[in-house]
Amino acid sequence: MDVFILDTKEEIGQKAGKIYVDFVKAKPNAVMGFATGITPIPTYNYMAEECAKGNVSFSQMTTFNLDEYCDLPKEHKNSFYMFMMDNLFSKIDVKPENINFLDGNAPDWQAESKRYADAIINAGGIDVQFLGIGRNGHIGFNEPAEEFTDEAFKVKLTDSTIEANSIYFDDIAMPRYAMTMGIGSIMRAKKIVFVATGKAKAEAVKEMIKGEVTPHCPASILQKHNDVTVFLDKDAASLL
Ligand code: PGA
Repeated sequence: MDVFILDTKEEIGQKAGKIYVDFVKAKPNAVMGFATGITPIPTYNYMAEECAKGNVSFSQMTTFNLDEYCDLPKEHKNSFYMFMMDNLFSKIDVKPENINFLDGNAPDWQAESKRYADAIINAGGIDVQFLGIGRNGHIGFNEPAEEFTDEAFKVKLTDSTIEANSIYFDDIAMPRYAMTMGIGSIMRAKKIVFVATGKAKAEAVKEMIKGEVTPHCPASILQKHNDVTVFLDKDAASLL
């Protein structure tokens, strides 16, 4: 892992965003994995700004998002699809037909998992996967568990995740289940860009980088990937 400790969220966004922008300039039809949450927003802002300035086009890029809530309409303001539309996809020239999401409302989650795995393979595999981390060490919605998962699956969210994300749900109860790419799908990405900011992430970041590789801290598996770039602020890095 290459670990960079930077001063501000904006600096992290610029550095992480530049990896995406430079990659797409070199390979316009790149296959990019995206994540939701507060932490990626400065990265997405940088990508949108570069696109608006005409410095890069994302028109041939294909995207796959990590996860999506179950039992929440796709167009609900808190769906991850809407998050990506609001924070990135509506601001860049990505083609709607090249945007891929897990369907949290699919009647058969196993068939949906297979569909997503096949779509990733047919696209040529993910070139760059973006990741944040939960306070409990989750990546995507791979919550602490007894085993590492492989392809996408339906997960029951932990109390820690529900507590962290329910602040965004002011009209309805936060969903208790989600569909997420599995650890195997994440690890098959050729390159991983990871970001974490704030003291609340410090313990999980320490376990990820310095702890043993265990499904009790799903992010620790990244120690076994050969191309991970980690951007942290001083608070997130404070226990290293
Ligand atoms: P956050 O979410 O960026 O909103 O903290 C990250 C995550 O839970 O993966």
